[in-house]
Amino acid sequence: MIAAAEDFGGAPLFRREFMVSREHGDVTEATLKVSALGVVEPWINGQRVSGDLLTPGWSSYEWRLRYATYDVRHLLAPTTVLGLCVGNGWYRGRLGWTGQSAVYGAELGIIAQLDLTFADGTTQSIVTDDTWIAGPSAVTANDLYDGQSIDARLRSDAWLQPDFTGDGWSGVHRLDFDRGILTPYTSPPVTRWRTLHPVSITTSPTGKTLVDFGQNLVGWIRVQVKGPQGTTVTISHAEVLEHGELGVRPLRTARATDSYILSGHADTFEPTFTFHGFRYAEITGWPGELHEEDLLAVAISSDLRATGTFHTSNSLLNKFHENVVWGMRGNFVDIPTDCPQRDERLGWTGDIAAFAPTAAFLYDVEPFLAEWLKNLAAEQEHHDGIIAWVIPDPLKYLEMPVGFPEVGSTAVWSDAGVWVPWTLYQAYGDSAILEAQFDSMSAHVRRVQSLLSPSGLWDTGFQFGDWLDPDAPPESPAKAKADTGVVATACAYRSASLVAQTAAILHRDAQAAEFTALAGRLRAAFNEHYVEDGRIVSDCTTVYSLAIVFGLLGQADQDAAGERLAQLTKEAQYRISTGFAGTPFITDALTMTNHLEEAYKLLLEESCPSWLYPVTMGATTVWERWDSMLPDGTINTGQMTSFNHYALGAVADWLHRVVGGISALAPGYAQLLIAPHPGGGLTDVETSLETRHGRVAVHWSIAGDSLQVQTEVPEGVGGILRLPGQRDQPLQPGRTTTTVPVRAFA
Ligand code: BGC
Repeated sequence: MIAAAEDFGGAPLFRREFMVSREHGDVTEATLKVSALGVVEPWINGQRVSGDLLTPGWSSYEWRLRYATYDVRHLLAPTTVLGLCVGNGWYRGRLGWTGQSAVYGAELGIIAQLDLTFADGTTQSIVTDDTWIAGPSAVTANDLYDGQSIDARLRSDAWLQPDFTGDGWSGVHRLDFDRGILTPYTSPPVTRWRTLHPVSITTSPTGKTLVDFGQNLVGWIRVQVKGPQGTTVTISHAEVLEHGELGVRPLRTARATDSYILSGHADTFEPTFTFHGFRYAEITGWPGELHEEDLLAVAISSDLRATGTFHTSNSLLNKFHENVVWGMRGNFVDIPTDCPQRDERLGWTGDIAAFAPTAAFLYDVEPFLAEWLKNLAAEQEHHDGIIAWVIPDPLKYLEMPVGFPEVGSTAVWSDAGVWVPWTLYQAYGDSAILEAQFDSMSAHVRRVQSLLSPSGLWDTGFQFGDWLDPDAPPESPAKAKADTGVVATACAYRSASLVAQTAAILHRDAQAAEFTALAGRLRAAFNEHYVEDGRIVSDCTTVYSLAIVFGLLGQADQDAAGERLAQLTKEAQYRISTGFAGTPFITDALTMTNHLEEAYKLLLEESCPSWLYPVTMGATTVWERWDSMLPDGTINTGQMTSFNHYALGAVADWLHRVVGGISALAPGYAQLLIAPHPGGGLTDVETSLETRHGRVAVHWSIAGDSLQVQTEVPEGVGGILRLPGQRDQPLQPGRTTTTVPVRAFA
């Protein structure tokens, strides 16, 4: 690992020139392995080695640093120049809301190895060592939160050509670095996902030039511009407008501003060492008239394979689902984040605990989340078994404001360590993920066990609880209706049960017995202290939802809880009343207790707060708050008001499984339950999923008095077809159409 002898600021360049050996025949293999303390863009002989972005991404750098591997044979020349450009990224850039940067280290570093193999079997290796030189680039500033500055007057590709003189460059020095932490990429790289043209360029009430890309996205704007040398063009980004101007307050201290100094010739700028969450941009300093074709929004994301689709006869619902997809892609940028725009963008565990089942349907997220879970386990191992709130965890280095709670095991958030691997096992059927995570999963539950009070409840310590309950005051999102002990004890029960099941799957009998017993004690304590005559302490929708779906209640209480849940849902006039904890489960809880109609009414409600309210307000992603934008078009006054948070989109999992009707009867969809639940006035629903066993699809439609259900099931996969008002039938492989009368279930 080497660093520049001088700190050039901006994004330094590193280069090494060498002769490809001639005596051993053709080069048969050429492999470049590269990583950085920072983010690195490798070049060979003037060409970018790959389209990967922000390499090596964000891992728990203290214990794990990924390296990328590229086949570069086609880029070699007799005299080859290997060049690396390095940005601050997560390593040296800002992280978190305290204004701190360089929390992992103050010096950018690179490590690379280029291995050549020749026809006669001889090898040649070029590695980062003290023969490299370093110098400044045209990137004069870069930060993931604040944006990037490029001075096109400083651009030159001479450093990538042979015989570069290196004026003003320096040598390098070795950094103290443990190579044992290097680990290959097993998760997808971040790449350019989509590009979008502006839909309008307008002038704001105060005279600013505003560009609208029509979609809230994560990435940057590629700019083509020609103007007098030295002209500065500045681009600020935001997700929404307020009073017709760029709404930057939700970004808090993230500047989200790129600035470019023009060379005097035709310039192209693309700021690849930053990213912004934005739909709108404000442009200042543009020379002459700005045209739509001068700008292109580039959306970036981890390169995930799409697997799931969902489409209905209801256009608002379709738009909502599309927003879930956009929100997911923008928050799956190397790690699963809470939001992509403000001074946060952290791997908040509670958010992915809620959203993982939805993510695992829409995309193949197995390698992506398995990689993140390795970071989770590494952090946990160095934190007394506590699963931190964010993974990777820079919070441990930040100077928190007075009153900020100490990070400890927390329901929903820390439960991600159990719920996420369990979700991956259910979605993809490979118990290797359970094996890999078992120590982490069980350490989490044991840690929680140590926190139980003598009553056997988890009613101690700080909890986020039903975070962002719509009835909580904007400035106190933890002040939810749901009792935090009820939420935490319910979650502890769920995690203990899942770890018990995991232990059984892995044939770890002693642990299976241990966690089964713990789950039993948690369930007993929950019922003894929190449940009376079917009423649950704090009597609100979230507590009933969790108790029902997690299986905490006996049959009589389950029925009573279902009635009460339906009643509360109705009393709230089908406006949503749950936060992060309850939202992923409320529609399931209603369905499981025969209140499908209420579930649909809740789903399709359009007034604030509801899932569809943001859609009626023009949302193109899922918001952090039910009312991130208030009905009068002003931005919620809460400190945390993102317009791109996936957690509340977790209901899409219910859309896929229950409305569409595809669910797994055995892990990995080796056995299927196809059980569409028509309702809500929907007349046509189509959903499909590429499983590890092949494609599954359901298309149901109602015409007149009949419900027609078309199914597609892979060869070798069996299961149950359950249609409303009908007896279960065995599932037929291939394509099948079944028609049943609507009156049988209406
Ligand atoms: C994040 C959330 C996160 C929460 C924890 C917020 O600032 O954006 O999504 O889970 O803090 O309470």
